[in-house]
Amino acid sequence: MVELSVEVAGLRLRNPVVVASGVLGVSVGLMKRAEDAGAGAVTSKTVTLNPREGYPNPVVYELDYGLVNSMGLPNPGAEEMGRILREARRVLGIPVIASIGASTPDEALRIAEALEGFDALELNASCPHVKGLGADLMSDPDAVYGIVSALKSSGYRVFLKLSPHGDYLAVARKAYSAGVDGFTAINTAKAMVIDVYARKPVLGGVVGGLSGRAIHPIAVRVVYELHREFPEVPVIGTGGVEGWVEAVELILAGASAVGVGTALKRGFEVIGEILGGIERYLRDEGFPSVESIVGLAHK
Ligand SMILES: Cc1cc2nc3c(=O)[nH]c(=O)nc-3n(C[C@H](O)[C@H](O)[C@H](O)COP(=O)(O)O)c2cc1C
Repeated sequence: MVELSVEVAGLRLRNPVVVASGVLGVSVGLMKRAEDAGAGAVTSKTVTLNPREGYPNPVVYELDYGLVNSMGLPNPGAEEMGRILREARRVLGIPVIASIGASTPDEALRIAEALEGFDALELNASCPHVKGLGADLMSDPDAVYGIVSALKSSGYRVFLKLSPHGDYLAVARKAYSAGVDGFTAINTAKAMVIDVYARKPVLGGVVGGLSGRAIHPIAVRVVYELHREFPEVPVIGTGGVEGWVEAVELILAGASAVGVGTALKRGFEVIGEILGGIERYLRDEGFPSVESIVGLAHK
């Protein structure tokens, strides 16, 4: 028997597969289906203090090698999300990570207070298609420092979700000095699709975020660099995990758990396939646990 359970920043997960933020919308029913399909934890859709409508359609464009989305962070706002998360807490047995988008410490604290029903917060510093509400904090390491410090002083467990763009190590360093508990890497990569006949951008939000297979090697590199610099800080490695091989790659690069987003469009069975593959790999290669292979690519 190999041990699939992992500890991530003090959270005990029955296995390392975490549903990434945004892909389940704001539905407790879908979170429950993810749990029933075997997920170790779920991350909720990024919530802002006030409700946001998001961008006009189309908001998603499918490629052979990934997905470009430009949702514009539609969400019902912190108060309504609080109700949804309290319901999730009642229905789910696995940890819930609540993703928040905030520009200031005060805003972040108000969102966190309104939410309540979560096991950890994930500060989304990296949505590539929303400007001006703090989701693009990657260009402002001091702001990240302020928000993480405030959340930590209030006793929250905090993950910082990083973008593959910009000087993410500088942002990570600031978050580290503010006491961040973990990193989630990566969010989508800035991308765009043009309709050659309309001669116009396809997406309503013009610029979107590329996810899925195409960004996987970028995610591996970012996780590797984070683990090299902060070996004691857990990382939820996210980006293009379509099967067990990509999951194991991220764990070997230094991830303590792996996020799965785009692959879920193939159905929740993907979670079981990934877990089965990780388990077989550990057994066949003679490792006792997931934790025993974290960061092995650095040795
Ligand atoms: C449709 C869609 C919506 C997303 N919404 C969010 C979001 O609200 N907050 C966030 O931090 N990341 C969001 N993401 C990014 C994912 O959480 C994840 O970081 C990214 O898609 C890379 O993982 P993947 O290749 O497994 O999809 C979204 C991704 C997709 C495809």
